[in-house]
Amino acid sequence: MRIYENPEKTSENRLPPRSAYIPGGCSEYILLNGQWRFAYYDRDIDVPQIIMQWDTIPVSGCWQLHGYDSPNYTNQNFPFPVDMPYVPDDNPCGVYEREFTLQSKWGRVYFMLEGVASCAFVYVNGHYVGFTQGSHLQAEFDVTEYVSQGVNILRVKVLKWCCGSYLEDQDMFRFNGIFRDCYLLQRPEGHITDVQILPGGASIRVQLQGAAELKIYGGEVLLHSGAICDEYEFTPEKPVLWNAEKPYLYTVVLERNGEVLRFRTGLRRVEISDRFELLINGQSVKLHGVNHHDTSKFRGWCQSLEEQKQDLLLMKKLNINCVRTSHYPPTPQFMELCDELGFYVILENDLESHGFNRRYANETHAYDMDSCEYPGTRPEWLAEHLERMERALEYHKNFTGIIMWSIGNETGHGTNHVKMIDYVRRRDGSRLVHCEDASRRGENRNADVYSRMYLSPQKTEEAAQNYNLDRPVFLCEYAHAMGNGPGDIWEYNELFDKYPKLIGGCIWEWADHVVTVDGVQKYGGDFPGELTHDGNFCCDGMVFADRSLRAGSLEVKAAYQPIRTEYHEGVLRIFNRLDFTDLSEYDCTVRVEWDGRTVSQKTMRLQAPPHSWANIAVDHVPGICRLGAYVTCSLCRDGYEYARTQHQLPYIAAEKALCTAPARIEEDARQIIATGEHFRYVFSKHDGTFVSLAVDGKEQLESPMALTLFRAPIDNERKIKHLWTNEAVWEGENLNVAFHKTYEVTLRGNVIEARCSVGGVSRVPALRYTLRAAIFADGRVQLQVQGTVRENVFWLPRLGFEMALPAEHNEFSYYGYGPQESYCDMHHGAAVGLYESNAEAEYVNYVRPQEHGNHYGVKQLTIGDLEFTGDGFECCVSKYSTQALYRAEHTDELKADGKVHLRVDYRCAGVGSGACGPELKQEYRLAEKEIDFSIQFAPKGKEGA
Ligand code: GAL
Ligand code: MG
Repeated sequence: MRIYENPEKTSENRLPPRSAYIPGGCSEYILLNGQWRFAYYDRDIDVPQIIMQWDTIPVSGCWQLHGYDSPNYTNQNFPFPVDMPYVPDDNPCGVYEREFTLQSKWGRVYFMLEGVASCAFVYVNGHYVGFTQGSHLQAEFDVTEYVSQGVNILRVKVLKWCCGSYLEDQDMFRFNGIFRDCYLLQRPEGHITDVQILPGGASIRVQLQGAAELKIYGGEVLLHSGAICDEYEFTPEKPVLWNAEKPYLYTVVLERNGEVLRFRTGLRRVEISDRFELLINGQSVKLHGVNHHDTSKFRGWCQSLEEQKQDLLLMKKLNINCVRTSHYPPTPQFMELCDELGFYVILENDLESHGFNRRYANETHAYDMDSCEYPGTRPEWLAEHLERMERALEYHKNFTGIIMWSIGNETGHGTNHVKMIDYVRRRDGSRLVHCEDASRRGENRNADVYSRMYLSPQKTEEAAQNYNLDRPVFLCEYAHAMGNGPGDIWEYNELFDKYPKLIGGCIWEWADHVVTVDGVQKYGGDFPGELTHDGNFCCDGMVFADRSLRAGSLEVKAAYQPIRTEYHEGVLRIFNRLDFTDLSEYDCTVRVEWDGRTVSQKTMRLQAPPHSWANIAVDHVPGICRLGAYVTCSLCRDGYEYARTQHQLPYIAAEKALCTAPARIEEDARQIIATGEHFRYVFSKHDGTFVSLAVDGKEQLESPMALTLFRAPIDNERKIKHLWTNEAVWEGENLNVAFHKTYEVTLRGNVIEARCSVGGVSRVPALRYTLRAAIFADGRVQLQVQGTVRENVFWLPRLGFEMALPAEHNEFSYYGYGPQESYCDMHHGAAVGLYESNAEAEYVNYVRPQEHGNHYGVKQLTIGDLEFTGDGFECCVSKYSTQALYRAEHTDELKADGKVHLRVDYRCAGVGSGACGPELKQEYRLAEKEIDFSIQFAPKGKEGA
């Protein structure tokens, strides 16, 4: 048996795991990142051997992104046959080599690999040093006996697969190589090896083997100094506690034999209350979390320190306080940043065996653990399971932010997992155990929180109300943020706030995973040799791959924001959702707006301790408004707005003198023509709608004003459509290939009435309707659509008028939810106001082009020379037609046709999070059967003229 196919032999000569640190003082740290020699083979080769042809490759890096092999994105399916513990005989192999120089040889010399996939054989100066597997786990080797003063040669052979690959079936691009830092340490003989400073609530307890000089600092102030042996417990006089809002860290410095180790640690206690709340230092805390994969727009699994920092700082701006390191441990630098910036961390082990669900053709999604065909149930795999947990825990144990250890993800729950849990409990009682697989299997005792993924809001509430469930409920994944969405994050968070037992959750997931080729974001199926792939399912982040934001990001920010507000009869009540911060640390601005115009504004500092209310009187006399009156409350710190809420105020509706005199109307066999001083409209009897709208001699339309039902499907609709055919979308209604029928057009006075239908090819029409257009002398047209949706139509994506306008009409203004796109279930991050925009600015760069740019709750829209008004309609302006968006699979395939595409809708369905989460809620579907839609348009500024 090959060593790399033997789960009982996962390493050779690798040192036992220890806590993470880079030693200072007399010790030397030699980072080996940079250009290495590289040779790539389609199958394993014997090393050492003479390599004739070297290329070069950067370390850290993923070889698939440097011209070798090619990227492959697969979710559950293993990219090789399920024949554990064996992997394909043609196992691609990358040999890395470089020199390093030791100025002098002294003490002990170590070689550390922070991350290498899937396994590595290490050689120094031609001598075999050792072997390791476990891609996201650190591996350290003592190379003292192989190195010498001067130039040395280091060689690392990396194989694409090993038996560990059966435990690394995370949903991600499958990359290989030395993808994290690697370095040498030269340290004095007899140095400290492991240090334990498990974060506690009141004191700092330092443990190591043997003697050392200890110093503890609070900021720059030396709080303690002295010699210790094995253990020392320090209790600060005035302890400052750590939490995610105020992440105070002490500094612990240990010195022995000239070497200095420095750790930062916080005081914090994690507990569960009698009501099953999560307590951090005694305070009940909600986890406003996100799942974080290491993914870089250009470098795959390699995230630089800068990129990691950018991620965490951006999370702070989006009110995120918790990170689940899905689905493997991060770099120690990432953890340092989490401690410093303040994040509660669920540190997940590098463990996923999801593909076993799919090992038989006829069986999916089943964790049939009793089959004993999962590694998690087999004795010969126990050691490897335990070892992974031990390596994750030992390396990261000193980080304050970690509040839960997660056993792994989607790996089933077998005897080996239970033993991992036993190990964690024995080793570290100061944190909680997280194991979604145990919770899913109903083995609640095996974990400290009841953790589930993608429970619907309803099921989440049922769990909260289930008295037999005697632990906190945590959603380790929810609000699947793929493409346009998520539309349900707000609702979940209202539940979290309502039930003590719901401690929050982590959005799936932080950023889109893409491989950028010539500026185009690519995904599964875009690369040669992908034998199995899952398309764009890896593009499911709440921020784009370049970390730019979209409406979904701002919806998350709103759902997680530090305040909730209520307005009632002149009083704005503000609830402080923060756990450790008084609202007085923020500037609070209260603004009253009439028709989008600010009429009063005041900024103040409110006193409100965590979890308490403050009241503000809104001195407001109802004004005379055409569109609406709102009070907006916003919370800022250092000039950045963390929260904003809005409530409608009563107002006096402006009286509007409407011209009721009819327009001049002529009719012939083909059309009806309405004219007035500023306009000439043509209604076609063939099309059953307006085909020309000229205002002051200028044509406004480039296509008929068609009543349509389709929108380019969003990723969240992937289960109710079939992307791979051009048919059968929207549950088989074929709405993408719609036909319009006009049965009859009649004219009575100034009212045109058309009886029509619309529906997909091969189907009975989905909607039969009557369109009524009353046309007045000032050019105002009162439109009404009354119709019936066929009984057995599933639900409609939208319903409204769609039309093309000339290119120069690409600027528009609207009063409604903006400025970012908004939908009936995704508008908490937006606000009602009067906005100006243009077709270009409305575009949202989703990796796979799809529906976007809608505005919800619109009362007025001005575009070209037309003004549309109504009582809460929806609109969308785009430089792309619906069909163009529908056809394109990548952004570079999206072609503009030089027109402006306008939608004026009765309703547009919500976005939800159905790509992986629950189906779109009934209330957000367009599921009604009787339609009655009224809207009017008129030449801009000419109304009543
Ligand atoms: C979960 C899984 C994640 C990801 C997600 C779908 O089942 O834990 O890794 O696959 O679904 O995007
Ligand atoms: Mg999975």
